Amino acid sequence: MAQIVSIIGNKGGTGKTTLSHMIAHGLGLLGKQSVCVLTDLTREKLSKASRTYLPYDARSPDNLDKVMRTIQNVPDWYGVVDGGGNRPATDRMLADPADLILLPFRDSHEDMRTVAQDLERFPRARALPSQWPVDLEERALADDGIEKILANFRHRVLPPVPTISASKLLLQSDVPPLPPILDRVCRDLATQIFRLWGQPLDQATPSDLVGGR
Ligand SMILES: Nc1ncnc2c1ncn2[C@@H]1O[C@H](COP(=O)(O)OP(=O)(O)OP(=O)(O)O)[C@@H](O)[C@H]1O
Ligand SMILES: [Mg+2]
Repeated sequence: MAQIVSIIGNKGGTGKTTLSHMIAHGLGLLGKQSVCVLTDLTREKLSKASRTYLPYDARSPDNLDKVMRTIQNVPDWYGVVDGGGNRPATDRMLADPADLILLPFRDSHEDMRTVAQDLERFPRARALPSQWPVDLEERALADDGIEKILANFRHRVLPPVPTISASKLLLQSDVPPLPPILDRVCRDLATQIFRLWGQPLDQATPSDLVGGR
């Protein structure tokens, strides 16, 4: 059964960590047990309190090996692996066991050029527009960038995840009460991940916030 999504990519700051927590949170809201796997040496471990998922510190190779094996062998647990920028060798290691590989990129030509290279390197991966503009005019411009710069990979570009300021709350050590809009975006994102894993999901009700492309 498909159970691991790895969020990787060579460019820093594209939203890997935030998206990892959003997906894990969304899976939790869908009633699934999920682990958000921290591999980035420059990030702090987060507490489990008030979360719908388990943050796991896999910054040591031993812990990473342990958690990956556990997720692969325990039914009904899902792993969301947060990569780190500028670590091509680690990216490859995190991609290999994944059932789904996501490469986030922002609305910038540099991000799009970098993600095009990553899409070449990881033929199974999908590109995920991240922190995408919600203003209609800005969104149209951003979408236009995809059509131009990522034309050859258009079929591998997923619907965008919108800019949502409240997403940073998930990265606080202790999570405060979250606004419903964030829950909705995270639930939609997790629903989409389930669909890409090829798994049925009863509660699948994505809104056009994430599925509007
Ligand atoms: N959907 C979003 N809406 C608004 N802000 C976002 C969103 N996703 C990420 N951000 C912001 O963008 C910045 C970079 O995000 P994040 O740290 O998740 O990127 P990263 O790819 O993990 O970075 P690194 O390469 O350093 O690991 C952070 O300030 C984060 O709060
Ligand atoms: Mg990160």
